[in-house]
Formats: sequence, C-alpha cells, structure tokens
Amino acid sequence: MKKIMVLGASILQVPMLQKAKDLGFYVGVADFNPKAIGIPIADEFYEASTFDPPAIVEAAKQFRPDGVVTLATDIPMRSVAAACEALGLPGISPKTALLATDKAEMIRALTDANVPCPKYVVANDRDEFERVKGSVAYPAIMKPTDQSGSRGVVLVRSLEELDASYDYSQTESRGGAVVIEEFMEGPETSVEVMVLDDGVHILAITDKLTTGAPHFVEMGHSQPCRLGDATCAAIRDVATRAVQALGIKRGPAHVEIIVTAEGPKIVELGARMGGDCITTHLVPLSTGIDMTEATLRVACGEEPDVAPKFQKGAAIRYFDVPVGVLDSISGVDEARAIPGVRQISIVKEIGERIGEICGSGDRLGFVIAQAKTADEAISICEKAIAAIKVVVRPDKTEERPK
Ligand SMILES: Nc1ncnc2c1ncn2[C@@H]1O[C@H](COP(=O)(O)OP(=O)(O)O)[C@@H](O)[C@H]1O
Ligand SMILES: [Mg+2]
Repeated sequence: MKKIMVLGASILQVPMLQKAKDLGFYVGVADFNPKAIGIPIADEFYEASTFDPPAIVEAAKQFRPDGVVTLATDIPMRSVAAACEALGLPGISPKTALLATDKAEMIRALTDANVPCPKYVVANDRDEFERVKGSVAYPAIMKPTDQSGSRGVVLVRSLEELDASYDYSQTESRGGAVVIEEFMEGPETSVEVMVLDDGVHILAITDKLTTGAPHFVEMGHSQPCRLGDATCAAIRDVATRAVQALGIKRGPAHVEIIVTAEGPKIVELGARMGGDCITTHLVPLSTGIDMTEATLRVACGEEPDVAPKFQKGAAIRYFDVPVGVLDSISGVDEARAIPGVRQISIVKEIGERIGEICGSGDRLGFVIAQAKTADEAISICEKAIAAIKVVVRPDKTEERPK
C-alpha cells in the first residue's frame, strides 16, 4: 500500500483526501488546524502549518510517504517541494515552487525565457513604489505577488487611481510586494496540464468568465475551449513554454492565459491543479481523465494514463447575488433535477452577510453541468441558477444612522 501525504485538510483538500482513500492509499494529512474538516478522512494527522516548509518537512520525515501533494493552493506548494527534496521524492524543486508562487519571480522568469507575458514593474515596498511610479503605463493591473483568488487585484485606469490602487493591493500582500502589469485585453482561458516523463500533456483548455474590472473574480469556467483550433494551438504552445520556463518537470500545472490581439500571453501559472472545481470536476466531466488520481500517482513516481476517454462539454457557473444578508434559498431540488446538472453547492450560511464580490471567497455557491458541448453545459448551469431563488435582505447594520 502506497503512502501519500496531503498538505491541508480544509474543504479545498477534501476531493484529494477522498480520492486517495478511494484508491487505497494510506493517507497522512497535515494542517495547522486540528479541527479541520478533512482530518477524519485520513489515516494519520500531523499538526503543522502548510505555510511552514520546515514544519512540513518534519512531519513528512515522521510519516515517510511515497509522495506529497496539495490540491489547488499555491503557497503550500513550497512545503510540498521542500518535503519532496528532503525525502528524495518526485516533485518540483524548491526553486520551481518559488517561481510558481511568487508573481514577481514568475513574470521575471517568463520574460527571461521569452514566453509571451505582459510588461511589468515590481514594487517590493512603498519606497520602491514611489521610484517606479513614473514608468507605469495605463491601463494597468496591480496585484500582490503572493495572493490568490483575485484578492488585491485591481485595474488602474490612470495616474489618479495609482496611489489608492497601491493601498488596496499592498494591504493584501503577505510579503508587502506588488506587481504592476500591462493590462491585457481579450478572452481569458486556463490550460490544465500534466507533465510526465514523456513530456507536457495538455488535458484541457478552459474558457473563463470573470466579473471584469475592477477586481476580475472568476464567475465561471467551461470546457472544451470555444476559441477555435488555431487559437487553441497557440494557447497550447505558450502554456507548454511557460511550464518549461519555470522548470516544472513532473506533475500538474494550471496556466492562465489571455488571448490578446498579439496572441496568447500568460496571466500566471501554478505548479498544481486548477481550483474552482476545474480539474477535480470539469476535466473528468469533459474528458474522462481523472486528474486528481493522476496527480496522486505522479507524486508517487508512477506514470498515470492521461489519454482522453471521450469529449463532452462541462461548465461551472457561480451565483451572482446582491449585497446584503442571506435570507433564504429555495428551488435547489428542482434545479438538481434538470438533466445535465451534476452538482449544486452553496457555501454560505443563512444569516451570513454577502459582500461585494472582490475575491473568490465572496461567492455564494455554484452549479456544475455536463452536456454534449460547452455551450449546452453553460446553458444548463444558467437554467439551474435561474431556477434557484436566493433572497438577500438589506443589511440593517449598514443602514443605521451613526
Ligand atoms: N495583466 C493582466 N491583464 C488583464 N487582466 C489581468 C492581468 N493580470 C490579472 N488579470 C485578471 O485578474 C485575475 C486575477 O489575477 P491573477 O494574476 O490570476 O491572480 P490570482 O492569483 O488572484 O488568481 C485574472 O484571472 C485576470 O482576469
Ligand atoms: Mg489566477
């Protein structure tokens, strides 16, 4: 029986923990939180923060796994790489983990390797921000170098907005650094990749829907990509070069790309599976490839089968509801009965405040569908969302006079 160590036991890691158990792995899980929801799924628990590479290395030395993985989170990839290096396990190097989790290091490495990406400047602190201010071209995108889920991402239209944008973005940055990039216009996609010893395999290209300016939160994904064969070929080429430029020699990658008038350019990439159910749910629904299983097996040194089994359409759409307090939700059972609907999840509680969508964590929930084509899967999601009645009442605490 192979032993796998999963970093993180939050709801995000549950599909990985469950899959590992279903496949018969002996599972160790590490998390800073001894009450995390996924712990009972695993065989052994180690209380260690996934953000703390030395602590994870210690836990891994005790557990002695055949492989170490984490699902769709960035910073814990540094701990995965540290543990793999310490135990001599297959996986990305700590250098690659840094390039794939620090947006400033990443864009520098991509630019050096001539992989198409936006022009950029980095501001490590306020002094540097003051020094580089004059070189920013508009419109620009500002983002923390070490965040995710669109947290701290903001469109900067003009010099007048620059200081306020810096405050917004910099506050969200763990290390205090931000990157300011040329704003790319065009359809947004992601490429779901598995790198094996025989090369870079592109499992799927995903079309994205975002809230757009100013914060660009992802509100939907669908497969296969609808941009046509020539564009898809160009997307594959840029994604492959990006993966190679960062030194990802084994394992999954999630490459985000905007197709500009000058061709596809990189937004960012992770040396990990894509989040938002893209790789756990949409890849299997649209191709028949079990990417979670493949990720577990690659981590243990196996060469899994990643050939597509069929081609269907798959989509996820998030609810877009007004700001206020969540009062009631009805019609979920009826929506679930719509042919093609595969999953409906609501992640907020009744009585919880629904804020403006500034990051992925602000979303209420989602619908996933499978159909013959991406267009059909999207319209099934939309139909299901329309069938669900979400009542949000105004937040009284905000209206009360001061
Ligand atoms: N240079 C850019 N030009 C246009 N849009 C961008 C750019 N950088 C980021 N975005 C938008 O912001 C979103 C979030 O930025 P991203 O770099 O992917 O950070 P995160 O780690 O938060 O996902 C992207 O999905 C995209 O819609
Ligand atoms: Mg992103």
